[in-house]
Amino acid sequence: MMYNAVKNRYDRMKYRRCGNSGLMLPFVSLGLWYNYGNRESFENMENMLTTAFDNGITHFDIANNYGPPAGSAEENFGRIMKKELGQYRDQLIVSSKAGYGMWEGPYGDFGSRKYLMASIDQSLKRTGLEYFDIFYSHRPDPDTPIEETMGALADIVKQGKALYVGISNYNPEQTRAAVDCLDQLGVHCLIHQHSYSMFNRTSDHGLFDVLSEKGVGSIAFSPLAQGQLTSRYIDGIPSDSRISKGYYLRKEDITEEKLRKIIALNNLAKERGATLAQLALLWVMRRPEMTTVLIGASKPEQITENAAVAFLPPLSVEEINSINLILGV
Ligand SMILES: NC(=O)c1ccc[n+]([C@@H]2O[C@H](COP(=O)([O-])OP(=O)(O)OC[C@H]3O[C@@H](n4cnc5c(N)ncnc54)[C@H](OP(=O)(O)O)[C@@H]3O)[C@@H](O)[C@H]2O)c1
Repeated sequence: MMYNAVKNRYDRMKYRRCGNSGLMLPFVSLGLWYNYGNRESFENMENMLTTAFDNGITHFDIANNYGPPAGSAEENFGRIMKKELGQYRDQLIVSSKAGYGMWEGPYGDFGSRKYLMASIDQSLKRTGLEYFDIFYSHRPDPDTPIEETMGALADIVKQGKALYVGISNYNPEQTRAAVDCLDQLGVHCLIHQHSYSMFNRTSDHGLFDVLSEKGVGSIAFSPLAQGQLTSRYIDGIPSDSRISKGYYLRKEDITEEKLRKIIALNNLAKERGATLAQLALLWVMRRPEMTTVLIGASKPEQITENAAVAFLPPLSVEEINSINLILGV
């Protein structure tokens, strides 16, 4: 397949500044956690990535362990870069991470310098890239000094293996310590990647305050609660859905009470002529601290629908109040 690039992709997306850095990120970013492993259709992966780029989504998020098997999402991404998107390398932001279990033994998990340094070299090899735009510590390590983990990230920047670094799943106190530590090493923490959706509002309790105080950007993962905050499960469990594929999201997660909320939110979305997925993404992006919302997708059409939120009117105060009422918060 020869990729035919569209010329006006940048008119289809809005871009927000990432914290107080020089980097702009698209309103919507695409993650490769699911649907890029070796048992998925390669053609569908290609279509999703080119559809995303054609809609102005310039930021792709991967991690060393995405698959299955672990590492295969990076390999498949690398194949697509080689085949069609490599010519646009300077128009793309590619992120990877290390922090969860990746290989056997004491050096393939958490936050030691040994793990991070070895892992980024492996990730560069699998993707075939010369550098990552953003490299993350994927989770805090309670047993490794923060100076060691952040020291490894700072050296990764100084060695040219990543242009920027970020942290993920760090709580407000851990975030403050990590950002201060990086500052002392002369490297600004670009971004924090955290779970945030109408169904998971933990970040509202302290994290955003630290990010805005420190000038760190914010990227929300699982903004659709893995598909729950879409119309996907309103009429049962589709056979091609994430629940049917069965890793992290389970049938039992869709309780009767949750389904009632999903249906009410879906009706609210319809009132403004939007889909529930779009309402859920607008809800995340209502916060001024947010830089970009990090979606997953199993089909190109989902990406087109989600990318369109960049130009939808923001939620009104009345809509936000109605959402709170439905969610019971
Ligand atoms: N840092 C971390 O620890 C961490 C953890 C988790 C994720 N992440 C990152 O965040 C990314 C996104 O996470 P996620 O995949 O859980 O995000 P999500 O956007 O909450 O869920 C994605 C799923 O929602 C469904 N969906 C998306 N758009 C839809 C639409 N318009 N209509 C109907 N259904 C729609 C699809 O489900 P179906 O597959 O059922 O169609 C899709 O696979 C990951 O790829 C990864 O890059 C990071």
